[in-house]
Amino acid sequence: MAFVPAATGLRLRVPTAGSFTTVPRCRSLPIPAPAAAAVGRRARHASPVMIASEPAAAAEAGTAAASPAKPATKPASPNFSSGPCKKHPGYDLATSLGDAPLGRSHRSAEGMAKITESLDRTRTLLGIPDDYRIAIVPGSDTGAIEMAMWSMLGPVPVDVCYWESFGKGWLDDIVKQLKLDVPVRSITADYGQLPDLASTSGEHDIVFTWNGTTSGVKVVDGADWIDDARTGLTFCDATSAVFAMEMPWDKLDVTTYSWQKVLGGEAAHGMLILSPRAVARLESFTPARPLPKVFRMTKGGKLDEKLFQGAVINTVSMLCVEDYLDALLWVDFSGGLEAVIARSRANLGALEAFVERNEWAHFLATDPAVRSNTSVCLVLDMDKDKVKAMVKLLAAEGVAYDIGSYRDAPPGLRIWCGATVDTDDVVALAEWIEWANATLA
Ligand SMILES: Cc1ncc(COP(=O)(O)O)c(C=O)c1O
Repeated sequence: MAFVPAATGLRLRVPTAGSFTTVPRCRSLPIPAPAAAAVGRRARHASPVMIASEPAAAAEAGTAAASPAKPATKPASPNFSSGPCKKHPGYDLATSLGDAPLGRSHRSAEGMAKITESLDRTRTLLGIPDDYRIAIVPGSDTGAIEMAMWSMLGPVPVDVCYWESFGKGWLDDIVKQLKLDVPVRSITADYGQLPDLASTSGEHDIVFTWNGTTSGVKVVDGADWIDDARTGLTFCDATSAVFAMEMPWDKLDVTTYSWQKVLGGEAAHGMLILSPRAVARLESFTPARPLPKVFRMTKGGKLDEKLFQGAVINTVSMLCVEDYLDALLWVDFSGGLEAVIARSRANLGALEAFVERNEWAHFLATDPAVRSNTSVCLVLDMDKDKVKAMVKLLAAEGVAYDIGSYRDAPPGLRIWCGATVDTDDVVALAEWIEWANATLA
């Protein structure tokens, strides 16, 4: 891994013989070479790989007696989980988090400076309009979308569009928990398909997921089906899309994501982005239901502006904030939003090449226009036991962790292809999947 000093003036504390010295903070280069810590982790995983390649272990994993030769190269990182997702290339605990103001109040000048820097960098990198509000909220993406739904849904009918588990979860919460007095329509499609989004109404609130993480189906770029002259609000759970897909901010009134997805950050904190129209809803509509403190965004009928200036509702982890800042610096250093989107698309491209050359592998999303470039879901022409064995074998080989499809989704593989994953690793993984297919009984 290579590091270069950042030009940001940020400082990093590093341990030197029992004390700490302050040095310029370093930014990690987006070079696929593994960090020292990652090498250490791989070394710790080395033994199961060797054991699994022994004949007895191979038999136990269901491999055929005469296995084809293993591919020469393993992915430098076996982390293909769809959340928490892989850390960015070059991530190193000490270097990345060394500047965290641990043991300091998040409301101190230093703590607030970190939080506001993360909000400012988020706005700049994502191109969020100046009149949109951004806040860090409790409860990860779930917390962010729930607080928005509980605070704002109710005055007009709601269209809930869903095509996989998380979107279905939001529908269930709206119907079974919120129990709105207004009509709620569900607009839905099976795993692998996108529903008829054009059947939504601009006079209704629309709740949808930009990228269905468990089906690998995303909204078509641009979201033209959202009416520019709408009177309802759009609520978009974009957790596995932000920093990997273009977000048309003019179409989005409430947008949520968490740090643990595309940026490979830490879980537990959510991001909530509100358009001026969403703010107007908050200030004009007071739900009759009780709202817990962690959901409240207004004071005396007005938006609590301080919440969107870094004065978070409750205590944040300064370690996680530092980790998020480090990820934002990595995006910046990698060339910004366009560059990280391109990295993610290149990863999908590697799997498209894999599907192209293997007639037994297919995308769950058959239409390329709606195919996710983050949570890429594959179905394989084999029974689910063989898929399970494949997932187990690849993990045992130290090649890929956590790539089994989501529990409610059709059996198959789900391979995270967000920007923090290196394309070379996806290419290498594809060869191992071919090997596993040929090897397993
Ligand atoms: C589309 C979608 N929404 C919501 C969530 C929940 O995210 P979190 O656990 O960060 O709240 C996930 C997690 O995978 C997701 O994929």
